Amino acid sequence: MHDVIKDLEARREQARLGGGHDRIDRQHKNGKLTARERIALLLDEGSFEETDMFVEHRSYDFGMDEKRIPGDGVVTGHGTVNGRLVYVFSKDFTVFGGSLSKAQSEKIVKVQKMASQNGAPVLGIFDAGGARIQEGVDSLAGYADIFMQNVLSSGVVPQISMIMGPCAGGDVYSPALTDFIFMVKDTSYMYVTGPDVVKTVTNEVVTHETLGGASVHAAKSGVVDGAFENDIEALVQMRRLIDFLPGSNRDTPPVRPTFDIVEREDYSLDSLIPENPNMPYDMKELIEKTVDEGDFFEISPSFGGNIVCGFGRMEGSTVGVVANQPMTLAGVLDIDASRKAARFVRFCDCFNIPIVTFVDVPGFMPGTKQEYGGLIKHGAKLLFAYAEATVPKVTVITRKAYGGAYDVMSSKHLRGDVNYAWPTAEIAVMGAKGAVEIIFRKDIGDADKIAEHTKSYEDNFANPYIAAKKGYIDDIVLPHATRRRISKALRTLKNKDVQNPWKKHDNIPL
Ligand code: HXC
Repeated sequence: MHDVIKDLEARREQARLGGGHDRIDRQHKNGKLTARERIALLLDEGSFEETDMFVEHRSYDFGMDEKRIPGDGVVTGHGTVNGRLVYVFSKDFTVFGGSLSKAQSEKIVKVQKMASQNGAPVLGIFDAGGARIQEGVDSLAGYADIFMQNVLSSGVVPQISMIMGPCAGGDVYSPALTDFIFMVKDTSYMYVTGPDVVKTVTNEVVTHETLGGASVHAAKSGVVDGAFENDIEALVQMRRLIDFLPGSNRDTPPVRPTFDIVEREDYSLDSLIPENPNMPYDMKELIEKTVDEGDFFEISPSFGGNIVCGFGRMEGSTVGVVANQPMTLAGVLDIDASRKAARFVRFCDCFNIPIVTFVDVPGFMPGTKQEYGGLIKHGAKLLFAYAEATVPKVTVITRKAYGGAYDVMSSKHLRGDVNYAWPTAEIAVMGAKGAVEIIFRKDIGDADKIAEHTKSYEDNFANPYIAAKKGYIDDIVLPHATRRRISKALRTLKNKDVQNPWKKHDNIPL
């Protein structure tokens, strides 16, 4: 008996070493943690239960029969984050560069399936060189098996990807199918084809970073939802994000005890809106002063900054917050903002997370760049996402709600449940200047007349009362009472039950 126990321990020890001490040292020298160190930081101490530690590849070509390493380049299993179940797979770059074999894909699919079946989020950590070249089509088959399970799990359990090293070729599409992707600055990169192929095909000279680093994907392409300074910060933030998320679409959002009282009123909000309607103010101040303890996890902070999306809590329960940001492009809706917010709204709706929307939007962005880029279709994504969402929806218009953007931003007409406006709200087809220049075109040369028309337009339209008189706004609320009013509204919506008509699935304008 003693010998078999020693044998098991020796086998485990060997598996834990992955590609060996030299490659682990190289990993550390490159500023990266190992697959196991990452899992240890992500999960509660001692909670990790590893599966398939002894799985090996089944390849014989190119001398691979001589090289078998238990675990085969990925560490898989489950554990807890603050006591809640999470499934995880973590690519081990020290073993064949983390490349994907058929056996490795089977390990990953196993945790994906267990996560869906048991209603828990699945988090994938990527640090790998793509398809296991020695395995040929078997590796491609393995990728497709993972993609298939990503798609089946979409909307069933939250899927999160963390890019912590190379992520190229076949490796990029599994993250792309998940709900959120995050990267680590400087040590990770993500692209379909690398710099050498790019040079051959397009003659562009690029580095890993300029082609697919965090600076590209978190700020330009919008492929990833955030970038962190290093592995440790990234994993700590993943724990924070997981705390906001339900385990599955069968769960309600988790509730965390809070000391922040619902009745808290913040009088500084009464002066948040500047006197001059063209002056910006920071919408994040309103968000942070509204949610419990100011704790707000922002999604994609460096992309589409004219709209702010993220998770907070009200009375301890998670809410998704969507808010126009007057500090960036006056909070206008453009292609990037529409895509970003549409995806976020859909995530919230999949996972029963109520949506709180703060509106200060001058309209959609004009111009050929936007029109040629398909603003019509991208703007429609956000409209569609809000319209189809059946989770509780509470909206507060703080200042401008102009034109089509008024409709889009969770208006009453798209089944907003409780729609409030501050007394500073201006709900109209457009701003006074634009309106007067159209309806009084003949007076354009006469400054006095234009001023008179503008004043008359502002007096009549630049307020929330016309919409309130028609019932499009449920009430005008004082800024300092915003938290209390939203909390009360959400309380009444706890048992909301609205169904969309039966369909196989909808056809959102992709
Ligand atoms: C097998 C691989 C590998 C791969 C790396 N290794 N990539 N083994 N298949 N795809 C091995 C190396 O042989 C090496 O083994 C170890 O991993 C570390 O690799 P290095 O090259 O020494 O590391 P580094 O200098 O840090 O460079 C990392 C890298 C580079 C940039 C990722 O390894 C690389 O370019 N790899 C190939 C990337 C690629 O073209 N993949 C295929 C994509 S096509 P030893 O034993 O020396 O430690 C694809 C199609 C799938 O994925 C499509 C499905 C939809």
